[in-house]
Amino acid sequence: MRIDLLTLFPEMFPPVLASSIVGRAADAGIADYHVHDIRQYAQNKHAKVDDRPFGGGPGMVLMCQPVYDAVLSVEALDARPATRIVLTPQGEPLRQKRVEWLATQERLLFIAGHYEGFDERVLEELNPLELSIGDYVLSGGELAALVIVDAVVRLLPGALGHEQSAAEDSFSTATTKGGQTLLDCPHYTRPREWRGREVPEVLLSGDHAAIAAWRDEERRKRTRERRPDLASHPASPLAPPD
Ligand code: ADE
Repeated sequence: MRIDLLTLFPEMFPPVLASSIVGRAADAGIADYHVHDIRQYAQNKHAKVDDRPFGGGPGMVLMCQPVYDAVLSVEALDARPATRIVLTPQGEPLRQKRVEWLATQERLLFIAGHYEGFDERVLEELNPLELSIGDYVLSGGELAALVIVDAVVRLLPGALGHEQSAAEDSFSTATTKGGQTLLDCPHYTRPREWRGREVPEVLLSGDHAAIAAWRDEERRKRTRERRPDLASHPASPLAPPD
């Protein structure tokens, strides 16, 4: 998968993209990352990319031209069509289903804004997928883009050491029962006792069916306790019968 990242703060990306799973995926040739500075596409001599909002108000608005030219120039660097993504708190709230869909694309192009956001007309023209990583406001889209890159790249075939481990995460389609999402169960490793706390007996039993049943029940219990919003979804096996 090719991933292009357009930003006014290119220095934010390399340390994260070189680390952990996303870094290993690049080394293995599973993902390749290209970071581009939007300022390089400004046409005025001061490399100005933002201006005051029409109608007044605080902050600055990213101008259409540098963003538009950056997207078109970067897209032309590779023949594969790119799925355009703009990061904004006004976007679709990101969920694992969307992450799984993004992982099926051959090329993603992220556009990270700063200040008060983008001139609306460049969004109309580019028609990107607008995504939010939560109901809070970041200083810019860079960290949101990195969150999404991490969530997507770890799903690419070969990115995780152990192929199964992504399938059992909270929110993965594989933990969805009857169309419902469940949180992950608790995990334990050695020692068997720590500060008086014991590992649940069933996990030491070697009885794989009993372990699977225990984990399934723990997932349901956690979902009920911590995320009743998920548990009360109409498709949920945890929802009370009609
Ligand atoms: N940019 C600023 N806040 C954001 C958020 N919550 N999600 C995505 N992009 C953003």
